[in-house]
Amino acid sequence: MIPVIGLDELRAARLSLKGTVGLVPTMGYLHEGHLSLIRRAKAECDHVAVSIFVNPTQFGANEDLSKYPRDLERDLSLIEPLGVDLVWNPTPEIMYPTGYQTWVEVEAMTRPLEGAMRPTHFKGVTTVVAKLFNAIQPHKAYFGQKDAQQVAVIRQMVWDLNFPLEVVVCPTMREADGLAMSSRNKYLEGEDRKAAVVLFQALNAAKEAYQGGERDAEMLRSRMKNVLEAEPRAQIQYVSCADYNTLEELEMIKGKALLSMAVLIGKTRLIDNFVLE
Ligand code: PAJ
Repeated sequence: MIPVIGLDELRAARLSLKGTVGLVPTMGYLHEGHLSLIRRAKAECDHVAVSIFVNPTQFGANEDLSKYPRDLERDLSLIEPLGVDLVWNPTPEIMYPTGYQTWVEVEAMTRPLEGAMRPTHFKGVTTVVAKLFNAIQPHKAYFGQKDAQQVAVIRQMVWDLNFPLEVVVCPTMREADGLAMSSRNKYLEGEDRKAAVVLFQALNAAKEAYQGGERDAEMLRSRMKNVLEAEPRAQIQYVSCADYNTLEELEMIKGKALLSMAVLIGKTRLIDNFVLE
């Protein structure tokens, strides 16, 4: 599998694909979560395109851009057996050449949760995803429920800007103990790795309460906080029980809701969520 890099090369490769195209955007360092998106795309589309690009504009100044794990050879060997038709691995200079000045920004929905902790993050995500959509022109684009706010924001962008494609959301893949798979799990060592399961435990505690009939959102937030606070290695950034579509915090749960959290385990920032239907 030889990745294409330049835009001309990409356009030529895209033109050679007849029929429907499914796009799986990634930042590489692929794991089973990414591969599940690729398999789903393969099952639903005639051709599958995967982008591998560590997008600098979605990282804040104090975030882990330079440390973000990268291993293109390994990624390509994982992709190879899945029958992917096109891999695009552009450079930052191709995506953002000198003089670049156009941004795509979704408003209200990007302010809470991840947006409150990472104020410039979603502007970078929506801009790069819009550029990927324009360059590859997929019929379907595949995203993981693991990044719940990202999914909501991209859906909004697709609707607002009339991108002629379908956003497909795929379930969160987890390790045997429940930890959501993430490229950043690589940073978790020893006791931190064991402690990281606390996010899944906190979500389960709130889900059990919900299944037992609890509809008071504050009670569910407390349930999650109590579990997290019992783990000395965990430092809560936020715990939320919000409307699934608008991401506004709820008082009472009436329709579809999203339980979500961001927690530092040692120095590693983890996010996770459950959807309550
Ligand atoms: P990245 O973190 O590499 O994730 C790529 C895709 O894989 C995202 O849609 C993400 O939600 C999905 N994913 C990650 N972990 C998953 C898991 N455990 N189970 C299922 N899906 C999972 O998200 C990004 O990259 C970037 O923001 C991107 C959209 C590529 C824009 O730069």
